[in-house]
Amino acid sequence: MSGKQKIVYITRRERFNAAHKLYNPNWTEAENEAFFGKCSNKFYHGHNFELFVTIKGIANPETGMVMDLKKLKKVIKENITDPLDHRNLNEDIPWLKGSMPSIENIITAIWDILEPLMENSKLHSLKLVETENNFVEYFGE
Ligand code: NI
Repeated sequence: MSGKQKIVYITRRERFNAAHKLYNPNWTEAENEAFFGKCSNKFYHGHNFELFVTIKGIANPETGMVMDLKKLKKVIKENITDPLDHRNLNEDIPWLKGSMPSIENIITAIWDILEPLMENSKLHSLKLVETENNFVEYFGE
């Protein structure tokens, strides 16, 4: 074994279903419809979201793990995916209230909650998948 410290990136996926609409209250309904299209539907629409949480670190020599994925799963579920699941992202979530619940804004809000909870590991990135063709990634910048 070399003495080189080997940094490993490890990812946990969690899922949640939620509703939202993209609607700027400063615009008219017609302006919203023109810009956001179907996403501005006032009765909302839903997605099956997938959240990928990647942490980085060095495997603990005692456990062989960067972080116990059972523990990471618990942190993500308790703080993010259980509170968001089957909710209306425009109305129900205190930490999203007042912001446009686009995947861009949701992912940065998730980062702000998860990042301080990572203990000995470092949060490297988040990926939030909204549809099979649309997703965002965030690296804390
Ligand atoms: Ni949408």
